[in-house]
Amino acid sequence: MSALFLSLPSVINKNRIITEHLPQLRRSLDLNVTENKRLFAKTIFGITQIMEGTQFYGLFLPLLHLLRNGKMPGIGQMFRYTLRDESNHIELGRRLFLALVEENPDIMAPSFKEELMQFMQAGIDAEIAFIDDLLPEAIAGLTPDEIKQFVYYNANRRLLGLGYDPLKNKQGKIILDNPFPWSSEIIYLKKNENFFETKVTEYGKISNLQEVRTEAELFEGIEV
Ligand SMILES: [Fe+2]
Repeated sequence: MSALFLSLPSVINKNRIITEHLPQLRRSLDLNVTENKRLFAKTIFGITQIMEGTQFYGLFLPLLHLLRNGKMPGIGQMFRYTLRDESNHIELGRRLFLALVEENPDIMAPSFKEELMQFMQAGIDAEIAFIDDLLPEAIAGLTPDEIKQFVYYNANRRLLGLGYDPLKNKQGKIILDNPFPWSSEIIYLKKNENFFETKVTEYGKISNLQEVRTEAELFEGIEV
């Protein structure tokens, strides 16, 4: 099964886009050279804003949708924790990128900004190709078109967070609203709900379908 997954062109392409220039990042890289600083900045952007900040959300949304409908609650809860963790990585990457650019004004040239925008567009296109494989048609109240909008929504959040303009989708629309408003509610956890503090028994509880029967119960006490 994993071999089949790794042989899917859309998965290979998603991985390639993010990792293809990583081998150039070595300890010996001279970060006094503008081009090398750009490589570093582009890597932070690619990993935290494209992969973690955009592509992860497109992949995880169908699982959160299942959780919301009381299906696969155990794995759904794992992905809730994962996304909360990822939101820290995304914010760390955003701040790191902004600080790097602020301290090194030589990094940011119009051509480099354009390169970053094209990088994000390539990340979006790769994720959309993956969604075409993952969900070729609507299923259980989830349409591929809505998930693609969700990918653009997340990409645009990342771009706006760095002070860049949002991107238009293939229909020429700029998606700034979340097509799945419930997703942000489901990703945010209770303030006192901490992965490292949650007891094993609580995982036992959430894997019991009866414990997450209704949306009201699921969202009870969750900070928005
Ligand atoms: Fe991460």
